Order: sequence, then structure tokens, then C-alpha cells
Amino acid sequence: MPTLLLSGANRGIGLEYARQYLADGWRVHACCRFPDRAKELKSLEGDLEVHKMDVTDALQVANLARELREEPLDLLINNAGVYGARSGFGSQDFDAWTETLQINLLGPLRVVEAFLPLLEKAEKPCIVNMSSRLGSIGLNQGGGSYPYRTSKAALNMVTKNLSVDLADKGVIVISVHPGWVETDMGGASAPVSVEDSVSGLRTLIGALEPGQSGGFFTYEGEELPW
Ligand SMILES: NC(=O)c1ccc[n+]([C@@H]2O[C@H](COP(=O)([O-])OP(=O)(O)OC[C@H]3O[C@@H](n4cnc5c(N)ncnc54)[C@H](OP(=O)(O)O)[C@@H]3O)[C@@H](O)[C@H]2O)c1
Repeated sequence: MPTLLLSGANRGIGLEYARQYLADGWRVHACCRFPDRAKELKSLEGDLEVHKMDVTDALQVANLARELREEPLDLLINNAGVYGARSGFGSQDFDAWTETLQINLLGPLRVVEAFLPLLEKAEKPCIVNMSSRLGSIGLNQGGGSYPYRTSKAALNMVTKNLSVDLADKGVIVISVHPGWVETDMGGASAPVSVEDSVSGLRTLIGALEPGQSGGFFTYEGEELPW
């Protein structure tokens, strides 16, 4: 069966990804910052390995990639993310903004660079970057949320760049918007359940063709403008 590695797997959308891929028979390397506290994740049944990985910690990322180096990796999902400070114009905390970029932007690229040798061992490798429609420049009519919007807009450029740089290795790379999802980040009034979001994303990911690499899609499979 294919193998998935994902970050931020202890709660929210990441936990649901782990649950659904495990139920489908996949081997899942589920990464989180604090495995000792990840009770719900560790209780999932199936071919599951839980690893400690903070995406801002270069040593942890490199060590895990080295530990797993013999394994082909079919799918890498850069899921870990934070909303960060909800700061509008005139009220920036630039240190907090930098931290958001470390997690949402530099973290995913660090993980891709470390795990690329494993992806290259798979037949049809794929990288999914969890972005947001708030990172779409074309759709921005609301303003505000400078840290989150810029982190996801720049992540989208990373997606596009990777799709070009890794094309000759046969790696498909996409950005996705999971919907406004009921998680700690999305809040209780979010209209989309984690189950529906992840099941839609899995359908999209499962049917991806090389020609879609470098694209930005919703969990319902619709293409979004950058
Ligand atoms: N929910 C939505 O409506 C929505 C909409 C658009 C996009 N997204 C994106 O979808 C992804 C998942 O969102 P979610 O709603 O599931 O968020 P969430 O419930 O807040 O969960 C975020 C996850 O990221 C992990 N994380 C944070 N910083 C990390 C770091 N430095 N290293 C590793 N893991 C870290 C958290 O781990 P800890 O438990 O250790 O903090 C947690 O597992 C995010 O990238 C988010 O931006 C979500």
C-alpha cells in the first residue's frame, strides 16, 4: 500500500487525514510536535507510525528524513500551520509575523527538501501544500490578516516553483484550500466538517494528473486563482 507522511497530525485536519488514509489501508507517518500528548492520534488503528517533528526545527526534520530514508514516500502533506496574529493595518507585531512565516512558509519547503529523496523512490509522488483562499491575491477583497495571508500567498509561490523545479523528477505539487473547516483554527461556526473537507481533498489528490501540477484547488476540486 502507498505511504503518506504529514505534519501537524495530532489535531484538526491533520488528524482526519491520518484517520482516513489509515482506514484506506495506507501506511502513515504522522508527525507532530509533541507525540506524548497526541493521544487521539496514537489511538488510531492501522499501519501508523507517530514521529516528533516541529517544522521549524531543522535538526528534527533532517533526522527524521534520515531515519526513514529507505522508504518510498508516495504522498507528502505539508499540513502544519498557524493563523498567527489577526493584525490589520497599523497594528503589526513583526516578530509574531516572522514566526508565522517560519511555520507556514519556510517549514513546508524545509520538509520538502529533506524528504525529496524518499519521494523520488515512489512511482507517482505527490506533494500537497495546505494553503488557504486567504492566500489568493486575486480573491482578496477583505484585507487584514497580514501574517496569515502573506504566508499562504508565498507558500503558493513555493508550490508553483516546486512544480517547475521537480517536474523532471515526476513529482506533482499542488496547493489546496480545505474550505472553512471546523477545527481549532476554523472555529465552531465553520460550515465544513473535517470529514467532508478531507474526504474531498483525498478524492482530488487520488485523481491528480501531472498536468495539474502547480495548481491551486479547493477541497471540492475547483481551481482557484492565485
Ligand atoms: N480550518 C480552516 O478553516 C482552514 C482553512 C484554510 C486553510 N487551513 C490550513 O489547513 C491546515 C490545518 O489547519 P487546521 O484547521 O487543522 O489547524 P489547527 O486545528 O489549528 O491545527 C494546526 C496543526 O498544526 C500544528 N503545528 C503548528 N505549529 C507547528 C510547528 N511549528 N511544527 C509542526 N506542527 C505545527 C499543530 O500542532 P500543535 O497541536 O502542537 O500546536 C496542529 O497539529 C493549516 O495549514 C491551515 O492553515 C485551515
